[in-house]
Amino acid sequence: MNIKDHIRSIPDFPKPGILFYDISTLLAHADAWQETVRQLSDAVRPHKPDLLVGIESRGFLVAAPLALSLGLGFVMIRKRGKLPGDIITHSYDLEYGTDTIEIQADAIKPGARVVVLDDLLATGGTMAAAISLLRRMGAEVAAAQFIIELGFLNGAAKLDVPAQALVTYE
Ligand code: PRP
Ligand code: MG
Repeated sequence: MNIKDHIRSIPDFPKPGILFYDISTLLAHADAWQETVRQLSDAVRPHKPDLLVGIESRGFLVAAPLALSLGLGFVMIRKRGKLPGDIITHSYDLEYGTDTIEIQADAIKPGARVVVLDDLLATGGTMAAAISLLRRMGAEVAAAQFIIELGFLNGAAKLDVPAQALVTYE
């Protein structure tokens, strides 16, 4: 079972010149998705996390089944304005403008060891921001795990934790 065979590439989305790697076809294929979760479990287990963290929205698709598979809880990092109660906010720079992510203030206890999950590592901006936010909460970020890495964008260089992807495109 080769996971790559089930990832579809769609040219010129969301903008002309961008090749979009679409995991819809991977999610829709029961055996391929089960194999994906199995490989993610094998990659994440050695980091011995107390908790998993998923980044909205496609990161939730990765974190939720992995949490079940590893017998762990998972915490959501969400885009601005979605979480109730006391929240911690983190803004970060994009090529043009800024973006904001949030987490509930009581979601992670200081010293908790976490692995952060997302579907895709592109520039690394999203994951770097998530790691900064988690460290502000006192979390120990053990690793970042992805399904796909766009190696040519060199996003892993922005991350000062071990970063791993199941599939790389150059
Ligand atoms: C995509 C992807 C990653 C991020 C990667 O999310 O799911 O989260 O971009 O890009 P980066 O490494 O350059 O930061 P997107 O913001 O498109 O939203 P979605 O997950 O809600 O679809
Ligand atoms: Mg995303």
